[in-house]
Amino acid sequence: MLILGIETSCDETAAAVVRDGCDILSNVVVSQIDIFAEYGGVIPEVAARSHLEVILPVIDKALADASCNWDDIDAIAVTHAPGLLGSLLIGTLTARTLAILHDKPLYAVHHLKSHVYANWLPDGTKKHPEFPLLALVVSGGHTQILYMKGHNQFKIIGTTRDDAVGECFDKIAKILGLPYPGGPAIAEAALKGDANKYKFPHPKLPGLDFSFSGLKTAVLRTVQKEVGVSISYPSHQLKELLAPKQVCDFAASFQKTAADILCEKLEMALEMYPDAKSIVVAGGVSANKTLREKLTEAYFPTPELSGDNGAMVGAACFYEIKSGVKPVNPYKLNIYPRISVEK
Ligand code: KG4
Ligand code: ZN
Repeated sequence: MLILGIETSCDETAAAVVRDGCDILSNVVVSQIDIFAEYGGVIPEVAARSHLEVILPVIDKALADASCNWDDIDAIAVTHAPGLLGSLLIGTLTARTLAILHDKPLYAVHHLKSHVYANWLPDGTKKHPEFPLLALVVSGGHTQILYMKGHNQFKIIGTTRDDAVGECFDKIAKILGLPYPGGPAIAEAALKGDANKYKFPHPKLPGLDFSFSGLKTAVLRTVQKEVGVSISYPSHQLKELLAPKQVCDFAASFQKTAADILCEKLEMALEMYPDAKSIVVAGGVSANKTLREKLTEAYFPTPELSGDNGAMVGAACFYEIKSGVKPVNPYKLNIYPRISVEK
């Protein structure tokens, strides 16, 4: 079965053709990073306009790279939730129109499910994760631990009460004067830093819930103290007072703390769900090397499939179909910018 996966939930316009949930025939991703690097973050209206400009060429290229035409495609899968409203609209409206035009079944896929299913796409060495499993989802918008009894069965057992971990990487990068997106920039600066230079407290939340806003404030206060200014000093001006070595030390110490916090909760989850046979890590932050080095037993997507892409949408859709999920009405499909993965 050939599925065309379409993804536009944030600032990547992506389309891919995937066979039977695991063979990637093509995977085209056009990132808007260059546009938003200048602003230090995503501007939703600009993101939607940019999706609109490139979505059809991206889909055409995905079909061409896979040596496919519309007759070969069995289904279209599109991200309909969660994400930026305008961005989701461009992807879903395009998918709805194409489904009607080419008379193809249309499937609506939740973005976090897609990230999880990036772990079923091959990296040439590993077999598929086994159920029941624990999924640590770490992206720009989400930080959750999910328990999966089987395909397409998602139970949230831990979630962030405030910021997502990726958001925290992005905000701290801004304070340190590192470019957007913050995750890769922090990881790179951290290579030259001392991860034990600064100590930041771990949140004391009971159970499996996360909190990252306290860590962000702890880094901010430590930077202010380090450069000798008061807590009212504007955070966007701190970068001018930091030496390159200090930036690297802060990046490394923050990255270590964030990874430690994630791993602590995952360990706790393993104690609470001892039947879990595998751990999968998913979402943009799963590209992080420090996290990969700490979780040697876990499944990770290949680094290029950690971020947003259409192949994971095609994979997730394949397993949804296998679990009995039916196509949606292409005349009626709605978007849901904030809906939970359990819905
Ligand atoms: O999954 P994703 O591409 O988009 C969302 O669904 O949010 O995740 C984007 C997030 C950003 O916050 C970005 O800074 C972070 O993933 N990220 C990383 C790394 N690469 C991307 N965080 C830490 N280390 C990385 N290497
Ligand atoms: Zn994502």
